[in-house]
Amino acid sequence: MSLLSQPVTFPHSGLTAPTPTLKSAMTERLCTYDAENLDERGKVTPEYIKLYEEWGKGAIGVIVLGNLPISRTDLEAPKNAIIDARSSWDPVPGLKRAIDVAKAHGSLVIGQLTHGGRQVSEENPVSASDVQCPPMGGMTFAKPRPMTVQEIDDVVKAFGYGAKVLYDAGAHGMQAHSAHGYLLSQFLSARVNKRTDDYGGSLENRFRIVRRVFEEVRRQVPDQKFMLSIKINSADFADGGLTFEESKQACIWLDQIGLDLIELSGGSYESLAFEHKKESTKKREAFFVEFAEQIRPALKNAKLAVTGGFRTKQAMEQALKEHSCDVVGLARPLTAEPYLIREMIEGKKDAARENKAPNAVQTGTSIVQIGAIATGKPIPDLADEAVVQDVLALLQGKKPKEDKPHQEQDVKTSYEKSENKGKL
Ligand SMILES: Cc1cc2nc3c(=O)[nH]c(=O)nc-3n(C[C@H](O)[C@H](O)[C@H](O)COP(=O)(O)O)c2cc1C
Repeated sequence: MSLLSQPVTFPHSGLTAPTPTLKSAMTERLCTYDAENLDERGKVTPEYIKLYEEWGKGAIGVIVLGNLPISRTDLEAPKNAIIDARSSWDPVPGLKRAIDVAKAHGSLVIGQLTHGGRQVSEENPVSASDVQCPPMGGMTFAKPRPMTVQEIDDVVKAFGYGAKVLYDAGAHGMQAHSAHGYLLSQFLSARVNKRTDDYGGSLENRFRIVRRVFEEVRRQVPDQKFMLSIKINSADFADGGLTFEESKQACIWLDQIGLDLIELSGGSYESLAFEHKKESTKKREAFFVEFAEQIRPALKNAKLAVTGGFRTKQAMEQALKEHSCDVVGLARPLTAEPYLIREMIEGKKDAARENKAPNAVQTGTSIVQIGAIATGKPIPDLADEAVVQDVLALLQGKKPKEDKPHQEQDVKTSYEKSENKGKL
């Protein structure tokens, strides 16, 4: 029997994921957005629900929704589902519909809550301090304003509110996005966080906001069956940024706080890392697997997921067999083949379909694939060079609008714009 079909039980919630796999958070850009009317941002659409219905059929152990911004004015990108208490409408019913279909076949469903901090296109961003994110691939970022302690308190409460909404909508848990250079990751990084108060300086201080987020989530959702999770960088790969040793210490604290699941990733807009940073990991596919191997023995209870790079059943099974991690995370392969994990378990596939798009634009091409899944159209097969050229033309705006699948207009923002710079 494939190791990919072995269930995983989480220590605190007692919840069991049917398989040791995770669909990592991917910005879907399928919800409402209005540049002027903030109240018209972030409402769930039928396309968003359809997307999660399809992933729900894929034998994925844990489906991570999102990201879901907890502030409608601090967005990584437009058109994601938003949970912001300032909105006049109730986010629960829309999310509930998506969560219900995502969990219809037994997957656990958790929502990734996020705040963009300085990595946003907005004019007046906030961050830990006033360290500006350098321009990336055509995107520029305004100099952020250091958050006041009151604003930190408000953000902490907003994460708690986000968790409460997810709970009310029937999610099994929440994930705080503390990776890839977004707000919580900015606080963790000594490169970006120059504060001299209780939230800056020592790692303990830089970690304080993260600790408070989970305390607030538990205050607003006391039910222990609601899973706590984080996505955190194994390292920032930037001078003065979060180091591996610091990340390991943070993971130990997160384990002590009572998290069920820690998902390891790496990098930020300044130093993108969805690629091999080490020659030694190439054979094993997963970019951060060596970090995971050093962190996992230090964890007493939390299960460890590692995301980034997995493409073959053999490499996924090897990581599980060697206890490098407890859960294998996938993103891009599941936009090409939403049922890939089920098909691997059933012995129908051994590897993800080849992706011939340049690495630098694969976020953009994945968002096009997400749009196709969400509208029931054929998923562009990026193993076919001609299809790649077609999708690239669409991303570059060289294809007529009527040919474009749903969702095309916003695909060139944030992740993929930065990746267009070819840094990946
Ligand atoms: C289209 C797309 C959107 C993404 N959006 C997010 C996001 O919202 N939150 C997040 O934590 N990571 C995001 N990521 C990163 C993925 O979750 C994952 O960490 C990364 O793609 C590496 O995994 P992979 O090699 O399996 O694709 C995104 C990736 C892609 C391709």
